[in-house]
Amino acid sequence: MQASLEMVKALLDPGKKVVVLTGAGVSAESGVPTFRGKDGLWKTYRAEDLARPDAFAARPELVWEFYNWRRELVAGCEPNAAHRSLAVMEQQIPNFLLITQNVDGLHARAGSRKLVEMHGSLWRVRCTACAHAREERAPLPPLPECPVCGHLLRPGVVWFGEPLIPGVLKLAVEQLGHADLFISVGTSNLVQPAASFHQLAKDHGAITVEINLEATPNTGLSDFALHGRAGDILPELIAGMTP
Ligand code: OAD
Repeated sequence: MQASLEMVKALLDPGKKVVVLTGAGVSAESGVPTFRGKDGLWKTYRAEDLARPDAFAARPELVWEFYNWRRELVAGCEPNAAHRSLAVMEQQIPNFLLITQNVDGLHARAGSRKLVEMHGSLWRVRCTACAHAREERAPLPPLPECPVCGHLLRPGVVWFGEPLIPGVLKLAVEQLGHADLFISVGTSNLVQPAASFHQLAKDHGAITVEINLEATPNTGLSDFALHGRAGDILPELIAGMTP
């Protein structure tokens, strides 16, 4: 892997456009459970029971219990070396974008600013009836109410079967179309549309890199596959870049 790592390092040129996509694996070393794999959340909970609009309509208290548990869990976690390395990369590469599928807010806490949270945020709540939406880090009651209209609030995340936040997909596609280097980190590449970003970047001529503990359906699309922990590999990639 060392030779590939050195080659990828050489590609991290401040004159290039770099787009990074991250998934749950980037936060695993912070103690945030991933979704799939042996300790993944979807082994214990059924996504259909918890991360779907119809599930929320049928059993809002159960869905809120799940999200309040996740908010509490993530509130006790800190960004790790992978998050911090991506924040350094952003400072050193002017034409940089980080797209994350994660809702934990750890990239922002590590200092990333050129950041798109494509699945929303655990720290955002919005009303199911009116336009009220806000950042909320304080613990919430079991069924939180909108302060404006009194209807039920919902987590500000994207659920299965829902469209992405308006504008997010357009921005991602536009940016991927101009990328010189695309790096995917810690995603199983099983959930669309993020799973297609690799192909899209490659079709537009980007060099593609995958960083993951194991192979994914997109490993074959990768010019370089770096297998190992994101928290080990990313600091090596940015070594020599100063924050
Ligand atoms: P997954 O749980 O599907 O995949 C996590 C990936 O991270 C796996 O491929 C692991 O091998 C890898 N991984 C784990 N620890 C790692 C580490 N320390 N370093 C590098 N890689 C590591 O998570 P996502 O691909 O993010 O969506 O899942 C995508 C979406 O599915 C999520 O955003 C969520 C989920 O259902 C919604 O809730 C809408």
